[in-house]
Amino acid sequence: MKKLLVELGNRSYPIYIGSGLLNQSELYTQHIKAKQVVVVTNTTIAPLYLNTILKNLQSFDVETVILPDGEQFKTLEYVTHIFDKLLASKFSRNATLIALGGGVIGDMGGFAAACYQRGIAFLQIPTTLLAQVDSSVGGKTGVNHPLGKNMIGAFYQPQCVIADADVLDTLDDRQLSAGLAEVIKYGLIRDFEFFEWLENNINALLLRDKQALSFAIERSCLNKAWIVAEDETETGIRATLNLGHTFGHAIETGAGYGTYLHGEAVAIGTCQAADLSRRKGWLNDADVERIIELFKKCNLPTYPPEHIDSDRFLELMAVDKKNVDGQIRLILLTKIGAATLPIDIDRKLLEQTLKTYGRK
Ligand code: NAD
Ligand code: GLY
Repeated sequence: MKKLLVELGNRSYPIYIGSGLLNQSELYTQHIKAKQVVVVTNTTIAPLYLNTILKNLQSFDVETVILPDGEQFKTLEYVTHIFDKLLASKFSRNATLIALGGGVIGDMGGFAAACYQRGIAFLQIPTTLLAQVDSSVGGKTGVNHPLGKNMIGAFYQPQCVIADADVLDTLDDRQLSAGLAEVIKYGLIRDFEFFEWLENNINALLLRDKQALSFAIERSCLNKAWIVAEDETETGIRATLNLGHTFGHAIETGAGYGTYLHGEAVAIGTCQAADLSRRKGWLNDADVERIIELFKKCNLPTYPPEHIDSDRFLELMAVDKKNVDGQIRLILLTKIGAATLPIDIDRKLLEQTLKTYGRK
């Protein structure tokens, strides 16, 4: 097992990465301070992993909340189901919430933990590749609003993250690929050596080679932990983690939540950001091709849907947390392995990308 640390002073916490971790009860019980525990998960993950968790929590008073599965349920309404259970069970401020699932459950569970009685402890047990390499680390929690993705939320750090690579055995290929989009992101924004490693090892990852997967999870979490420690609340460098996400969120919202997986939308958005970086003169054609090729090898989409035209993109991209005074701001690449902070984008250049990249 590998143990990394997210260094945030008295809110620092470990990320455990390895195999068979769900059965190591002390890993999570050491982070639970009192008897009351609520496990939040969904209808897909519960039959797979909930019993394992419950077996290890026999000395606690445990309640469970099993939410419907899907991005479309990542709403305030469904977070309220968690509050309902906590209140009906008379859970107090020293209760602990365990989020067992992918990024949707992690974001919702974390947000519920941040709000319930102004904050209870929570543990992240991420079960998708995307959640293990990105969403479970760094304390971004929240829900979607019909007008924008992740628009309601809070920064709230967990007590620990337990990333058990074995749970990825039950993840379908499409979800695994979606997770790889966020893995590639770390190579693109700050770790060229990792980008090259990914180019050389992508087949092993797609074949779920455990050693390759564990390395990719660890290297991604190292990158993420470093960034979060530098800039917890995204006043600077943390924004680079949003490479491709403004385009991607527009695709997710525009196509209807759940149509594109988050990682798929990010893959397309990253290709759009690469195209725009080329227009700025920072990447050359070969760089852009290289990036697109790696996403394609992961079986990820690389072109935006036809039905979201340039005007609709602009409308959707106007709702973004990085924007200032209505000005769209984006993360671009200055080379493979280095990203800008959010920069104001010349509208004409952006429209060129929106109108021509991946359009017939
Ligand atoms: P998800 O949570 O919807 O999980 C994907 C699917 O896989 C779901 O159907 C889920 O039930 C299923 N699943 C999960 N684990 C499984 C397993 N081990 N075996 C079989 N099926 C399993 O999606 P995701 O890709 O994990 O997360 C996407 C969400 O994460 C988005 O809402 C996105 O906004 C959010 N996100 C948040 C952050 C952050 O920093 N907080 C970062 C990136 C993404
Ligand atoms: N996934 C983006 C962030 O954590 O900042």
